[in-house]
Amino acid sequence: NGVITLDPGYKNTGSCQSAITFLDGEKGILRYRGYAIEELAEKADFLEVAYLLIFGELPNKEQLEKFHADIKSHSVVDDDVKKIIDAFPKSAHPMGVLSSLTSALTAFNPSSVNVDSEEEMYNAIVRILGKFPVLVAWTMRKKRGLPLEYGDDNLGYVENVLKMMFKSPNHDYVQNEVLVNALDKLLILHADHEQNCSTSTVRITGSSHAGLFVSLSAGISALWGPLHGGANQAVLEMLEAIKEDGGDTKKYMAKAKDKNDPFRLMGFGHRVYKNFDPRAKIIKVAADEVLSDLGVEDPILDIAKGLEKEALEDQYFVDRKLYPNVDFYSGIIYRAMGIPVEMFTVMFALGRLPGWIAQWREMRLRKEPIGRPRQLYTGETLRSFTPIEKR
Ligand code: CMC
Repeated sequence: NGVITLDPGYKNTGSCQSAITFLDGEKGILRYRGYAIEELAEKADFLEVAYLLIFGELPNKEQLEKFHADIKSHSVVDDDVKKIIDAFPKSAHPMGVLSSLTSALTAFNPSSVNVDSEEEMYNAIVRILGKFPVLVAWTMRKKRGLPLEYGDDNLGYVENVLKMMFKSPNHDYVQNEVLVNALDKLLILHADHEQNCSTSTVRITGSSHAGLFVSLSAGISALWGPLHGGANQAVLEMLEAIKEDGGDTKKYMAKAKDKNDPFRLMGFGHRVYKNFDPRAKIIKVAADEVLSDLGVEDPILDIAKGLEKEALEDQYFVDRKLYPNVDFYSGIIYRAMGIPVEMFTVMFALGRLPGWIAQWREMRLRKEPIGRPRQLYTGETLRSFTPIEKR
């Protein structure tokens, strides 16, 4: 009708119809394709969840085996990708490297761009699911100065990710079931979250019929920010700073409430969850379990628990319905697993990959129109041009 409704941050605007993820922020409910996140985190593995998100149903044994075999058949990246990695300074943030490499993969896999049929989409999907963990592992290996090598095709998807990340020329690699299970759970919890910032970015980029890989690269860039996926790194840096500062949580609580201070309590608050984040509840328990299974004592876990308790009792946080989100405890687990802090958001991206893919595929199959928000113009009215010498 020509009337433009202004909704900064799209707080009340639905951008699409979707059958993938159900989220009730008031009740703290999250379901993938109708399955409760609590049940999936306990009983499923990450690859099953990826299949569920992308294709709509849990796979049977044959479907899962074929899916995994197709992914494995695409788990080699072009050797020239190593040269691109070599060109980055060692100090480069892994999220920038990952986003660039994901985009660069298009050049080596041009058939992944014009994908109109379901079969072409499937081929692009298994390609990226095969290659992405390699890129994830190599961004970390680059940081650590380790040779860029592949994993082991006989392993499960998540087992292989860990092997690719951690195997070293200096010692034999031994699979640790605690780490595999912990990573599996974290990846499942991050696998989709309906129309969040990065997913909306993937959908809107893909809506111009740009290819899958560049749409994902755009999503990775969106995820990087500290208000979104980058929060997991920011939380750990915040907890570390509090520890260095003598554990004075009250000081940081006061900073978070001070409207003249840009500091926010990282890992707290959520656009949609206004009661609790169901993922945070699962992760808090997992953090205790993983640290105790690994025999790690981390004073930062106590600081996090203390901060959570104080915030939950504080009127500022109560009034604004601010609760710990998925990122409040995830970094503590990643740290216990030996993953460097700059890699935390990369791990989030690895988990979110199937969600981004599922949302991109749904958008293309529904033949959604190009995403193109409108605006309310607030600039100058018509002016005449002033020559440069008169300005
Ligand atoms: N610390 C202190 N105050 C906060 C915080 C926080 N973490 N989060 C929100 N507020 C205040 C905010 O200042 C505002 O106060 P007022 O009404 O007095 O102006 C009020 O709460 C509402 O905040 P908002 O910024 O309007 O809420 P939003 O829905 O636009 O933002 C958010 C949601 C997640 C970006 C925000 O809560 C935040 O910045 N949290 C910290 C970063 C973080 O943990 N991000 C991870 C999100 S979960 C993982 C993911 O899916 O990416």
